[in-house]
Amino acid sequence: MSPIYQATASAPVNIACIKYWGKRDTKLILPTNSSLSVTLDQDHLRSTTTSRADPSFEKDRLWLNGKEEEIKDGGRMSTCIKEMKRLRKQEVEDKNPAEPKLSSFSVHISSFNNFPTAAGLASSASGFAALVSSLAQLYQLPVSPSTLSLIARQGSGSACRSLYGGFVAWEMGSAVDGSDSLAIEVAPQSHWPDIHALICVVSDDKKGTSSTSGMQRTVETSPLLQHRINHVVPQRMKDISTAILARDFDSFARLTMADSNQFHAVALDTEPPIFYMNDVSRSIISLIVEYNRLSLAAGGGYKAAYTYDAGPNAVIYAPKENIKEIIQLIVSYFPQQKDSFKDNFNLFSADVTSQAKL
Ligand code: DP6
Repeated sequence: MSPIYQATASAPVNIACIKYWGKRDTKLILPTNSSLSVTLDQDHLRSTTTSRADPSFEKDRLWLNGKEEEIKDGGRMSTCIKEMKRLRKQEVEDKNPAEPKLSSFSVHISSFNNFPTAAGLASSASGFAALVSSLAQLYQLPVSPSTLSLIARQGSGSACRSLYGGFVAWEMGSAVDGSDSLAIEVAPQSHWPDIHALICVVSDDKKGTSSTSGMQRTVETSPLLQHRINHVVPQRMKDISTAILARDFDSFARLTMADSNQFHAVALDTEPPIFYMNDVSRSIISLIVEYNRLSLAAGGGYKAAYTYDAGPNAVIYAPKENIKEIIQLIVSYFPQQKDSFKDNFNLFSADVTSQAKL
């Protein structure tokens, strides 16, 4: 019987505190600024991908949630598969000619997102990270998550950060071939296990402007983006890394909220303007601002930090001890809004994850 070459891996969602928004190279997916995220750990916020290589397969094929999708020539998916085959040849087959020539076989790939549909979260980050992880395992690649992040990045920029658990930076790099634009671990989850994330699903509607096209429009038209990438993000990256290493939640919270605000400001500064948050998103901001203000006025510290990606759903980072109170606050302030949550107003509480699961 001929051997079966198959591997399964899963990767979690990550949510940025310092946002990636803008590419300097759209083909290689090289960003205009570095970014930093927290990888979430919740069984229901993962993509799980199985890859199989076989000499009888005629071409590479892909199924997403059970439905076959076309792999477009020269597209992001085909680039990632091609790059992984190239690594297999370079790192395994060329070094040890006795190894099976898996890089010359076509692959069949099946991927599932186990997000509740109401999670309203983008799946490209966990999806491409799981794809690259499963091919790395199939090909038995002796390479680091940072090396794999170079390839996941070419699937979707934010995917490169899901190769690590905990607190992860995507360093923008400066090489024109993108060889130094990769993810590094700032701190593992075990360094600061107290931080939790609460996802408030305001709406699971598909967003109007995709991240890919929205950020390109911002690069082309927003004067504020130039200020952000040159004068704001470099210092914020240093400051938030310092805050994480010192487990300083006050600084972490201030920087996270400021960067979410500035990301939405550059979206608004785009021509024509892009609005990702809605009235409910803005009310949740007011609630968190007031919650923090009362704590600070009483001599305490920050209790929570909000952040919003390219959509209306809030992610709230907070020390674990505050999560219950925050859920109670949100539920008590927004009951009459149930309709505007379209019966999908859900709260998902997630730990920070330690690593991708193989
Ligand atoms: C607002 O990674 O989805 O979530 O690289 O074009 O696939 P592409 O974009 P994507 O953009 C994510 C934007 C963001 C901020 C972030 O995750 O850093």
